[in-house]
Amino acid sequence: MHHDFLSHDFLPRRRWPLFVMGLAILFSSLFPQSSHAQNNPEEPWHPVAAAYLRALFEANLLPQIDWKLIAQEYESRIAKDGYQNHSPLEIIAEADAATGVSYANAIRQAIADQDRQALYTASTRAISNMIRYYIAAAATKLDQPSASMASVVEAERYYRAFHDHFMEEADPAAVLTLGEAWKEMEGSVAGTPVDLQQFAKARAAIEAYLAGNYDVETFTQRSQLAPVPERVADSQITPWLPPGSNLHEQTPLPLSRLNFQARGVDEKNLPIVAYGDMLFDSPQLYGERARSLGVACSTCHNRGDINNSFFIPGASPQAGAVDVSGAFF
Ligand code: HEC
Repeated sequence: MHHDFLSHDFLPRRRWPLFVMGLAILFSSLFPQSSHAQNNPEEPWHPVAAAYLRALFEANLLPQIDWKLIAQEYESRIAKDGYQNHSPLEIIAEADAATGVSYANAIRQAIADQDRQALYTASTRAISNMIRYYIAAAATKLDQPSASMASVVEAERYYRAFHDHFMEEADPAAVLTLGEAWKEMEGSVAGTPVDLQQFAKARAAIEAYLAGNYDVETFTQRSQLAPVPERVADSQITPWLPPGSNLHEQTPLPLSRLNFQARGVDEKNLPIVAYGDMLFDSPQLYGERARSLGVACSTCHNRGDINNSFFIPGASPQAGAVDVSGAFF
């Protein structure tokens, strides 16, 4: 039985990720994308976009939603350079004032009312408004290409909250057309002279998509809050983790105690140890949620110690731990 498990089921399945990765690399080299909208996962998130996604994620952690934590996401001051120590709500309120809307108040109200759907509506429309606000800012500075480009890039950093994972999974065709529009917008402000017509065309394409998917009066009721485009709001998407999550191994790794490899013992002669190692590294032991995120014993126990960098906002009471009785797992 062990034999079957090893040769027919377990090992071939472990090769799938490599195969898929190979395909992904092949495709990304065939269709190179250079716009900022195709984000590098290592690039730091815009703090307001990150707060938006964390708040939605935390509002999914039923039955005991931590509304205080959600309020904190929006009210904590951003210490990083470039945000004047403002909170996400204050940044949203500035754009509100400039554009004649009041999403910051609506977010505050939704949190006070502990109303998940109202939180989704207000905060999603707020992010959509930030994108349009920065595109409008770029449009007023077309005579200063570098200032204009900075505004386009800022708009794209907000757009990432919708693009990464959600549009990518639920609306790949729009990812391609809008990716093209962002590239054209960047290209139009980078050129001399600035290509006004190209800028206007790209802007219209992006704004039309936002209007239909992220800026509607009444969004579909969602059991799981996630910025899946409204047009395809019933799409199933794979589990996601918000910015600030960390499933990477801790560095430095704790010392390895057994060290049989270093002592020249071949793992082949220790089948039980090899089998145990394999199980320890296998997400297949877990339920669907953890499996799809690739969580194994070794995710939390790098070499047997507790991984002190493991963290999922809202689900981890402290680094290295997670509440598996909550709605997420
Ligand atoms: C989501 C993170 C996570 C995963 C996954 C996980 N653990 Fe743990 N484990 C912990 C934490 C945190 C503790 C410490 C609990 C405490 O001290 O209160 C712990 C404690 C333990 C302990 C007790 C250690 C001691 O010193 O008392 C053992 C043994 C253990 N885990 C084995 C496993 C095995 C085997 C798996 C896979 C089937 C696993 N763990 C998966 C987080 C995890």
